[in-house]
Amino acid sequence: MRVAALIPAAGSGTRLGLGPKAFVEVAGRSLLGRSAAALAPHVAEVLVALPAGLDLPGDVPARAVTGGDTRQASVLALLRATDAEVVLVHDAARPFLPGAVVGAVIAAAREVGAATAALPVADTLVRAGPGGDCGTLWGTLTPREGLWAVQTPQGFRRDLLLAAHGAALADGFAATDDAGLIARTGGAVRLVPGDARLFKVTTPGDLALAQALAPVWDAQVWDAGGA
Ligand code: C5P
Repeated sequence: MRVAALIPAAGSGTRLGLGPKAFVEVAGRSLLGRSAAALAPHVAEVLVALPAGLDLPGDVPARAVTGGDTRQASVLALLRATDAEVVLVHDAARPFLPGAVVGAVIAAAREVGAATAALPVADTLVRAGPGGDCGTLWGTLTPREGLWAVQTPQGFRRDLLLAAHGAALADGFAATDDAGLIARTGGAVRLVPGDARLFKVTTPGDLALAQALAPVWDAQVWDAGGA
């Protein structure tokens, strides 16, 4: 089955405040360039959704499409631009992507039809109520057991994900990831162990972490001949 990697990279990066986030560089390489390079060895083609008016940097081995107003719209534009049987959706903002996770997600997507990288939740989760700068603790979401934090990559049979996007569009339903759209239609999604280094660069604090990790990561990738 032919596999394509789809990278939604059309976000504005408002919370980071450094312009379109995918183009932000960490140790001399953009988040997008890092994500695309990690995926390329595993797939037949890489497609990237970009903000309107922006072009792909020369060092990103990919084909570009124009993204939409939301992540969901950007993924739909990518889905419509490929005829691969299996698609791997990966956020440009997760630049440290181990090859073993890519392989496991592709294998699970082939087997089940839908799969996502995810990590068991280690922290206690609470809901905040009004009051103070951050709000006050309003309730603890217990038990923590059985809760997973969803990452990308997420892998799908393309026909399944297209149908789930079509249903969401028809219902005006918005989700922050694609596996959620499959689950909403009653489809099974296999959880595949992700990696702590697969964190999403969202805030200035995340960027500081990424800058600290990049030299270690890059040295390992060179030593191993690929992530
Ligand atoms: O905003 P957030 O960090 O959740 O975005 C996740 C991914 O979705 C990022 O890689 C971002 O570039 C992408 N995105 C997109 N189109 C949008 C908004 C976000 O491709 N309209």
